[in-house]
Amino acid sequence: MAINLTSKEISEKYNHFARWYDWDEGVFDLLGVSRLRRRLLRLASGQVLEVAVGTGKNLRYYPPGCRIIAVDISKAMLDVARKRADQLSLNVSFLLADAEALPFRDEIFDTVASSLSTCTFPNPIAVLENMARVCRTEGRVLLLEHGRSDCERLGRWQDRTLKNLRCRLVAIGTGSRWISCVKQALK
Ligand SMILES: C[S@@+](CC[C@H](N)C(=O)[O-])C[C@H]1O[C@@H](n2cnc3c(N)ncnc32)[C@H](O)[C@@H]1O
Repeated sequence: MAINLTSKEISEKYNHFARWYDWDEGVFDLLGVSRLRRRLLRLASGQVLEVAVGTGKNLRYYPPGCRIIAVDISKAMLDVARKRADQLSLNVSFLLADAEALPFRDEIFDTVASSLSTCTFPNPIAVLENMARVCRTEGRVLLLEHGRSDCERLGRWQDRTLKNLRCRLVAIGTGSRWISCVKQALK
């Protein structure tokens, strides 16, 4: 399902949603997403770029020694992430930026990470290509995304629910979308 919104419209939606985001995501945390965040981010090292950091739910899971720059298109989401970094006594540099045009030179990050975000980008291929561009050749791009359930009944329910509810509220596409995007970006 395509996201037919401009970056500005997505930014506005997340500015409104920022205060509820952690509460809403609590459901996914209970379903085990925090465990997946921890497993993924322990693979991070060195100079790290987190793309679409949101409210900073990944920040606590980076190994010590990581030097983190985090970007997002929503100022309100970044404000929450900044507070979280302060509470965790983490030194993170935050930047308001569009992931489609990352303001960094080629191949300067050891790790480029992003979670639960590919399905919100209007042009996910462009974002994935940008992430690859700023990552060193020997570096790592780490992605954590929702997927459509293998159970067909549940998958159909996801399609209906996400289409009718979450996309309108917070600009989220259906889960199967990111997998085909990653495959296309890897070609
Ligand atoms: C579903 S939230 C995920 C937040 C966070 N990564 C997490 O795991 O909780 C999607 C985030 O992507 C951000 N976003 C959407 N489009 C973006 C873009 N073009 N550039 C940067 N951030 C973007 C939104 O502002 C929002 O914070």
